[in-house]
Amino acid sequence: MRKKRRRRIGILGGTFDPLHNGHLILGRRAIESFSLDTVLLVPAAQSPLKSRRPPEVSGEYRLEMVRRAAAFDRRFAVWDGEIRRGAPSYTIDTIRELERENPDADFFLIVGQDAFASLDQWKDGDELRRRVSFLVMNRPGTEQDDANGIGGFARRDCGETDERSRREGREQRGVHKLKGPLIEISSSRIRQYLRQCDSVRGWVPDGVLSLIEYYGFYATEEEPEGLRRHRTEVAAAAAALAQRWGASAALAARAGWLHDAYRALDSRIVLSLLESRGEVVDEVERNAPILLHGRLAASRIEANRLGPRDDRVAEAVRYHTTGRSGMSVLETILFVADRVGKDWPDVEAVPEDRGTAVRAVFERKIAILRERNLRPHPRLLEGAREWGVKEDIISGIAAGW
Ligand SMILES: [Fe+2]
Ligand SMILES: [Fe+2]
Repeated sequence: MRKKRRRRIGILGGTFDPLHNGHLILGRRAIESFSLDTVLLVPAAQSPLKSRRPPEVSGEYRLEMVRRAAAFDRRFAVWDGEIRRGAPSYTIDTIRELERENPDADFFLIVGQDAFASLDQWKDGDELRRRVSFLVMNRPGTEQDDANGIGGFARRDCGETDERSRREGREQRGVHKLKGPLIEISSSRIRQYLRQCDSVRGWVPDGVLSLIEYYGFYATEEEPEGLRRHRTEVAAAAAALAQRWGASAALAARAGWLHDAYRALDSRIVLSLLESRGEVVDEVERNAPILLHGRLAASRIEANRLGPRDDRVAEAVRYHTTGRSGMSVLETILFVADRVGKDWPDVEAVPEDRGTAVRAVFERKIAILRERNLRPHPRLLEGAREWGVKEDIISGIAAGW
């Protein structure tokens, strides 16, 4: 009887913060060069290296990115064990679990050369060497260091026959060089581009980009918990108001998520980013750059435009701080939703009539400016006038300046 061929499974782990096309190119390269049946993408809950900062995006969404990427190529599969485990995971624990789940498989761990060079510091590194083969990718400029890297390691540790593996009929473990195109895409560079509102189209799969752009991930490095909650609540309120006032709930929610994506960024940085994008900033905005975070978020939406409907989202987000005359329905929805939890306890308490609700927001914003003795933006006064705020209220605050 012919022995059944053992499956060959590649493992590509990482925080995938975010997943990008370089990961997929690497995985495909491993599949093709080493006749793998599949590559398992294994998102980590957190890096076991303490020196690394925690991922910016939660495990749940990084897992979703990986799933979206794998959905387009049957050769990839997703293993969510590390995310389920929650705590930082060690590769050896993952391998032990995967071996239990797949007793008929040989595993090929895809690692970077720098990670591989530090294998001695990995938990149970010796056991790992016995259990898996390593596919080590070369990095730009590392060819000449080979003697100290893969080659040296292979001679030292992996050259001899592994008796146990042979007894079990497994393929002998080894260290192989994974040659391929040198890919200059990195998650940190993508995060940096997104932070400055540049396009990353083509760097990440479209499904991943739409997830990133729906929630406005990677806008600021650290977002205060309260702000994140506010964005979540505004998204929910905007979706509810969209249903009430006849607009797309999905677009309204997206506007809610994105409107304050740059709110935690230092206002001076917001100002300089906008100006570096060639946008004109007026005098009132320059003196109160806090007003500008909506314009920056709109600029981000345009940079990574997902489709024609995005123009409406950008429009809603752009002037949510001041409002203006000629607001679209979506704009008014965001304008009102932003005040739910402040001027109204919840969406149910918002007046049924859209005009009444919008007018109330303008009045409230004028009252706040008056209390704090701040100058109103002309857009705010134009909008207030159009939505029927009493002239004495408008001219009262305008006269102060
Ligand atoms: Fe805002
Ligand atoms: Fe807000």
